[in-house]
Amino acid sequence: MIISFLNQKGGVGKTTLAVNTAARLARSGHKVLLIDADPQQTSAQWASLRETTPFVVASLPRPKMARDAMAMAADYTHTIIDGPARGKDIAHSVVIASDLVVIPIEPGGPSLWAATETIEAVNNGRALKEQLEAVFLVSRKQANTVIGREAKAYAADAGIQILRTEIQNRVAFAEALTAGRTIFEWAAKSEAAKDIERLVKELLRYGEHENIRGPEKARQAADA
Ligand SMILES: Nc1ncnc2c1ncn2[C@@H]1O[C@H](COP(=O)(O)OP(=O)(O)OP(=O)(O)O)[C@@H](O)[C@H]1O
Ligand SMILES: [Mg+2]
Repeated sequence: MIISFLNQKGGVGKTTLAVNTAARLARSGHKVLLIDADPQQTSAQWASLRETTPFVVASLPRPKMARDAMAMAADYTHTIIDGPARGKDIAHSVVIASDLVVIPIEPGGPSLWAATETIEAVNNGRALKEQLEAVFLVSRKQANTVIGREAKAYAADAGIQILRTEIQNRVAFAEALTAGRTIFEWAAKSEAAKDIERLVKELLRYGEHENIRGPEKARQAADA
């Protein structure tokens, strides 16, 4: 399965989620590839802070990266793509390469509305790749906040489900990334690590076909 984290809004947690999702999958013994498709190369920089990485990290920060990404992914059980902030062409190619596009959003912030461009990329991708799935993921959530009705309506309107797992804003995530560590190496028993555990479990369930819902079904579900 090829899972991408994509939102052209910067700083929503794409790299944090991509690195730690890859790390969690690698811990289960899977052969995992992390593709850094962001010209900022944050994932690649994270990898450069280390002597070895628990998964393979490759850089494809360019438009039309999909073909190479899919060819490379054939050798791995799971491929994770760290998407770019800005750059329509790369975003489009990331979507095309993906089986599942995860769109991190910060609840309450303006990022929800900035996802419009990403949703457009997903919809364009779906026209070319029918089985493509996309979901929202609440990221960097402040404790004691709830996802507002506005956010739910926005997701329903886009025909995109919101994952049940929510990633809270937790310092351990920032500390681990800066130190060139995965959250499991930095603080294995932390709540942050548990967030990623839950996320990966839910993402893998998405890979098992029954739970995959097209935009129409998601819309129906939202209306029900
Ligand atoms: N859940 C979280 N809790 C606390 N800090 C976080 C969390 N997620 C991300 N951060 C921090 O927020 C900053 C931006 O995160 P990150 O680099 O993962 O976002 P991004 O979407 O990849 O950004 P960009 O668009 O620039 O690539 C980083 O300093 C990171 O450590
Ligand atoms: Mg990033």
